Amino acid sequence: MTNYNFTHRVQDVPNSGIGFMMRYASKYDDVVSLGQGTPLFPTPSFIYDELYKKSKSDPTIGQYSSAKIEKELKNLIVKNIEKKYNFTPDLSEIYLTVGGIGGLFAALMAFVEKDDEVIYFDPSYPLHLSQIYLTQGKPVFVSLIEKKGWQIDLEKLEKSITPKTKVIILTNPNNPTGTVLSEQEVKKIAEIVLKHNLILILDEAYEFLTYEKKLFSPLKLPELRNNIVLCKSFSKEFAMTGWRIGYVYSHKEIVSKISNVHTYFAISPATTSMIAVITALSDPRGDKAMQEFKEKFTESRKAICERLDKLPKLFSYHKPDGAYYIFAKYLNFKMDSFEFAKKLIDEAKVITIPGSTGGPSGEGHIRMSFAADTKLIHQAFDRIDRFAQKYGQK
Ligand SMILES: Cc1ncc(COP(=O)(O)O)c(C=O)c1O
Repeated sequence: MTNYNFTHRVQDVPNSGIGFMMRYASKYDDVVSLGQGTPLFPTPSFIYDELYKKSKSDPTIGQYSSAKIEKELKNLIVKNIEKKYNFTPDLSEIYLTVGGIGGLFAALMAFVEKDDEVIYFDPSYPLHLSQIYLTQGKPVFVSLIEKKGWQIDLEKLEKSITPKTKVIILTNPNNPTGTVLSEQEVKKIAEIVLKHNLILILDEAYEFLTYEKKLFSPLKLPELRNNIVLCKSFSKEFAMTGWRIGYVYSHKEIVSKISNVHTYFAISPATTSMIAVITALSDPRGDKAMQEFKEKFTESRKAICERLDKLPKLFSYHKPDGAYYIFAKYLNFKMDSFEFAKKLIDEAKVITIPGSTGGPSGEGHIRMSFAADTKLIHQAFDRIDRFAQKYGQK
């Protein structure tokens, strides 16, 4: 073996179980995926059509982005923020990023140094964890309370803050548990953030997707805004996971530091993706498409819950209030979640994600994405039913 001298940063970073499972399943042709959290619908066709038209009239769209295009998109984001969060940010407070993930990484790089502590709600999105390790910060796991529908343990949160705590990273609605915070919980978190002068990195990739419960964003609290880095994604709401574009909203001083990181690893998101999002945000068909996706996710949520309800010996779960995941506890199988997820791939030909990738409290669970039409959900569950039958769990 060649003796490379890698940094600790890259040696210590855990691999995301999501990629592992997708690769593990690739040896089979006939697998049904409830794995990766990508809407299995195509990007709305008018977005491609408009982009193609634009390519005919503007030969620069294959080049690095221009200030003009960035400004046009940022102006639309300002309007979108006004609509969603009821305030008007300045253009200097918006920064365009390579997906939500680009903003999250740049924000962590801007605030976290070696051994700084980052509060990580457990379980949540595994890529946050990997990013914390890349900054050489230390994740402090604050477990969500499963028996209360994966609520945040506010007492534990308060007790977990130390002089080394720099950041709380919050995903609302949460991936994988679908937890949506109440206004009261958000206010309590805000109190803690302000009391200890922390930064709240707020991942609202699924902000558009709540069901019966309404989202109360921490951004609704003006006194908190100087301490927030909002990381938003266009991936989910417009079925654009492959276009790799999102944005950050934060105080302009924070934005300038985020720019110092993001510019030097990515320069900017792709110009073509900026144009695609300009179309999605400015054309009424964008909003319509998003509403249609939402209706589909709502139907799929109903379908997956009905199928799970028929398998009480195999799984227990809480109905998610937001996002498009079920975080199910598997019963009567004494193995870790990687082994169980691999077993489901090998024997049922269904891809799910091991719960432990989201943090230690996720052990004993699997994440199932229902970002697909109901036909795929039924196809997956017909297979899972047969699996349950084989083990006498039906
Ligand atoms: C909570 C959360 N944040 C961020 C991302 C990444 O989003 P993007 O595709 O915009 O980078 C995902 C993707 O699944 C996610 O679930």
